[in-house]
Amino acid sequence: MSPVSENPLPAFEPDWLALREEADADARATAPLDPLRVHLAGRGAGPGARPVRVADLGCGTGSQGRWLAPKLSGAQKWLLYDVDPGLLSLAGAHMPLTSADGSPVGARMCLRDLGSITGEDLAGVDLVTGSALLDLLTPDELTAVARAAAGAGCAALFTLSVVGRVEFFPSDPDDPALTEAFNRHQRRGGRLGPDAVGAAGAVFGELGYRVLTFESPWRLCPERVPLTLAWLRGWVGAALEQDPEAAAGGYLERRLGECERGELGVVVHHTDLLVLPEGGADHP
Ligand SMILES: C[S@@+](CC[C@H](N)C(=O)[O-])C[C@H]1O[C@@H](n2cnc3c(N)ncnc32)[C@H](O)[C@@H]1O
Repeated sequence: MSPVSENPLPAFEPDWLALREEADADARATAPLDPLRVHLAGRGAGPGARPVRVADLGCGTGSQGRWLAPKLSGAQKWLLYDVDPGLLSLAGAHMPLTSADGSPVGARMCLRDLGSITGEDLAGVDLVTGSALLDLLTPDELTAVARAAAGAGCAALFTLSVVGRVEFFPSDPDDPALTEAFNRHQRRGGRLGPDAVGAAGAVFGELGYRVLTFESPWRLCPERVPLTLAWLRGWVGAALEQDPEAAAGGYLERRLGECERGELGVVVHHTDLLVLPEGGADHP
């Protein structure tokens, strides 16, 4: 039995993905967009040229497409990949219909485990993208995704990968032990967790890609109380499942109360990764 089958992928509830969508959209770095537009134009994709072809890996309900499609001009064809058929159908139903300049956007759904994706699957794709995905992958899945992207000669933009760092205002003596326990929980089943961005940068670098990283912190409480309450329950719950001794009793209740009273600030650090094939314009 593989390590991952002993620790199956958690279910991602549509309600949770909806609750975080606005914070995700605000957090994603916009600095990668200009180099990406230049890259796409160099491949002959975009405004006044052929449609941009994008594969959104681990699309969930489609939050990345709703964020990115209206930021790029020209016609677009999206391939939406996920293993969860319910999430996939929501993504297909809620893709934007037009791009930044009003050109048509189309989408096709692909029910698929990314561990088996190949360059042939991505043939003709200009951009592989994914959001809140990399940290869930195992090294083998990451390698499959990176090789598939390299096989297609396309760029990749992975947004909102956790980096294992959370800041609380005010801090609490138990924060470091909980952070460490949560990070270990994320690495269960051989998943990359907070090591994902470094691992992805290394794999794409070995494949000859230029690797660019951008900070994309989630700014939660005091502005986003419902999201922060849900995040706190999940974060503390996972940490204590990993190490029941990581915090003294009452930590969660104390933090929930501080959040509800507007007395807590939370920043959850993430990184966005843009990788561009060197000499990438020669893969139409
Ligand atoms: C945290 S959710 C993020 C969803 C969406 N990208 C977003 O930003 O809202 C991770 C998604 O990746 C999908 N996923 C994770 N591992 C996968 C795999 N090996 N193959 C296909 N989909 C996967 C999950 O089903 C889930 O929809």
